[in-house]
Amino acid sequence: MTIFGPNSLQPNPMSQKNTTLGEFIIENQSEFKYSSGELSRLINSIRLAAKVVNHEVNKAGLVDILGAAGDTNIQGEDQQKLDVFANDAFIKTLTNREIVCGIASEEEDDFITIKGRNEKNDNKYVVLIDPLDGSSNIDVNVSVGTIFSVYRRVTPEGTPVTLEDFLQPGNKQVAAGYIIYGTSTMIVYTTGHGVNGFTLNPAIGTYYLSHPNMQFPETGNIYSVNEGNYVHFPQGIKDYLKYCQKEEGDRPYTARYIGSLVSDFHRNMIKGGIYIYPNTAKDPNGKLRLLYECNPMAFIAEQAGAKASDGFNRIMDIQPTELHQRVPFICGSIRMVEKAETFMQGS
Ligand code: AHG
Ligand code: MN
Ligand code: MN
Repeated sequence: MTIFGPNSLQPNPMSQKNTTLGEFIIENQSEFKYSSGELSRLINSIRLAAKVVNHEVNKAGLVDILGAAGDTNIQGEDQQKLDVFANDAFIKTLTNREIVCGIASEEEDDFITIKGRNEKNDNKYVVLIDPLDGSSNIDVNVSVGTIFSVYRRVTPEGTPVTLEDFLQPGNKQVAAGYIIYGTSTMIVYTTGHGVNGFTLNPAIGTYYLSHPNMQFPETGNIYSVNEGNYVHFPQGIKDYLKYCQKEEGDRPYTARYIGSLVSDFHRNMIKGGIYIYPNTAKDPNGKLRLLYECNPMAFIAEQAGAKASDGFNRIMDIQPTELHQRVPFICGSIRMVEKAETFMQGS
């Protein structure tokens, strides 16, 4: 149980100290086992790109006034769709700062090799990103996000990255996080020492530690699933949903589904709940991407005391075979995920 967590009515000594994300990164750098400052610089670049994307996301409602996507804006520049904009912003920031040796993005067919300083290929980390998650929500002013995942390369430094550097199981992640562009903009991330959340003060462009040591409640009463696909769900998920809806004990649970994984996950982490995107007859591997969405969220979930599974296996133990691989995803409060797994495995 968190004593001074986001759900607590106790005063939070960390936020009284007004720790900024920049200070937090420096103060906690030594916790990281390969501590070289490189990972800190990487998180710093993500923080910067997130501010740029945040600014653009906040203008999204003005797009019809300033010029729709595909049009030319007042400066004569082409307007971009936000997912393309976010993809470019993250790739440019990470490339220009010569911090990583490679990037894979949901928006790119193949991974990008970055040669780094003096073209030496001597950087250690690869980043995988979903630059804009929940992009269908942009037009209707609903929260969207960015998800990122960081691995140490497995090929020798000094050589260009290969696919092998990206196809690592989630249990090899050294950092993962998300940015939520919501009523407030937040960065939530882990380097394997718990999960911390930082809220942007837009007036001064600084992120403050607002949610130290975030913990998923062990159980909850929210289930998040696109129930419109119910008829196509596997029997185990159908049975689990009937269990969620049954009047018994603390049930029926409440259904909450935004359609933006970052937002659904964030709410469930604070309130307690389960997120499900199962396989269907049409999509036998589900919809969500193992490398850009499921692994980073699974790492955060486990670091916050929760669980992520495909119904049978731990998400982070799945050996990826391709960059854009999809996987069924069940993630959230540990008791709820365990229960859903028993239905999957019994069906
Ligand atoms: P993206 O916008 O990056 O393509 O991801 C959308 C994902 C995820 O965020 C969300 O939970 C899910 O797709 C929603 O899918 P449905 O519309 O099929 O429910
Ligand atoms: Mn996504
Ligand atoms: Mn996306």
